[in-house]
Amino acid sequence: MALRKDFLWGGATAANQCEGGYNKGGRGLANVDVIPIGKDRFSIITGKQKMVGFEDNYFYPAKEAINMYEHYKEDIALFSEMGFKVYRLSIAWSRIFPLGDETEPNEEGLQFYENLFKECHKYGIEPLVTITHFDCPMYLVEKYGAWRSREMVGFYENLCNVIFRRYKGLVKHWLTFNEINVILHAPFLKAGLYFEKGDNEEQIKYQATHHELVASAIATRIAHEVDSENQVGCMLAAGDHYPYSCKPEDVFAAQEADRESYFFGDVQSRGEYPAYVLKKLAREGIKIQMEEEDLALLKENTVDFISFSYYSSRVVSTDPEINETTEGNRVTSVKNPYLKASEWGWQIDPLGLRITMNSLYDRYQKPLFIVENGLGATDEPDENGYVIDDYRIAYLAAHLKAMKDAVELDGVDLMGYTSWGCIDLVSAGTGEMKKRYGYIYVDRDNEGNGTLARSKKKSFDWYKKVIASNGEDLSF
Ligand code: BG6
Repeated sequence: MALRKDFLWGGATAANQCEGGYNKGGRGLANVDVIPIGKDRFSIITGKQKMVGFEDNYFYPAKEAINMYEHYKEDIALFSEMGFKVYRLSIAWSRIFPLGDETEPNEEGLQFYENLFKECHKYGIEPLVTITHFDCPMYLVEKYGAWRSREMVGFYENLCNVIFRRYKGLVKHWLTFNEINVILHAPFLKAGLYFEKGDNEEQIKYQATHHELVASAIATRIAHEVDSENQVGCMLAAGDHYPYSCKPEDVFAAQEADRESYFFGDVQSRGEYPAYVLKKLAREGIKIQMEEEDLALLKENTVDFISFSYYSSRVVSTDPEINETTEGNRVTSVKNPYLKASEWGWQIDPLGLRITMNSLYDRYQKPLFIVENGLGATDEPDENGYVIDDYRIAYLAAHLKAMKDAVELDGVDLMGYTSWGCIDLVSAGTGEMKKRYGYIYVDRDNEGNGTLARSKKKSFDWYKKVIASNGEDLSF
């Protein structure tokens, strides 16, 4: 069995990393705007250091990003030239509700996305929309403490009611929360949570998680009520954990590390808090406040498909001597001696994608959608902005091969593949422009210099050929 005939090939971005226009069209300020590049970024992302507005001596890359707010027509035309069937993007919540708790939406923001979706359809591209990709209106952060407050569920529900109705017929595929499990590792970036001295961080993170899970179930319910064509997915930061050795303690530690993420998928897809989480929370004295209707809401409104990001596998060891670590997607991992890594230390493991797909499919038995995958690398453009990015093509080709094996040899049902950062954008982790994922080069550097001109890399034509052959021709 080859890939589906209607396989959704495309690319993915997020509003906060490409749109810019932070103060245009009536948009309000969001948590993602106030995260600067530089040495304080990590402590701000993790909620350890408070940043609620723009401060002197910092550079905030999301303010302008690559200004897709004004360049989207040109960018979508380029996506269409590559043959995209789908374009994954996110809505900036504070464009629709600038403060977050209003009852009436901002028409200019709604119109912006309507125009963008229509532009996609002009080329036969389906938008795949992430309702929140890390962003939260700053007003909600300051007034309500963001997702630690139950009231967020209602504000999110308002947002969903408005967008599902307004974009009915224009959007059919929705993701409720990008990388929902990242709330445990980057709570300010993911959910607008920062901590004061004396806060019980784990308690706050799990309570906020519960609010997001309930909000996700409500979104799924409304999406289905508004349009039976709507399909809703959860979105997990995935990548199986390997035990460093076959020592049972290592194997168990790897299982526990996987469960930390499965918890989210288990609730969103199976509709129940799994026993291992209930036991863990009880053991750690974490008490989740629930409303009477919550458990029924979760049970009755499970997702239609499982989407995920995959950049690499992770490794776990219980041996204190095995302590060499390396960076990864929002989490550090024990270094895998069998793998090479990117310039940023993210380990490169194409077979790990096949393994992860099998784990997820075995567990949920629902269609999968790979909505992020790719290599962040430094590019050296020539004077025309052309980049010979064979390293990126090699990474993608190997991962696409593994993806096809999971479908063709293991029988995994896969809806589509959108590579991350199909056009260069701001890195979520580091705030750099230098960490590029795109098929399209954007002339902008870490300090915000550059013309923002777009140019095709070598991978542009390669991906075009991959799509045209429905993944049969990966050669380069
Ligand atoms: C995922 C996010 O965590 O990984 C993206 O959903 C992010 O927003 C991507 O950009 C790659 O991470 P980074 O840190 O290289 O930008």
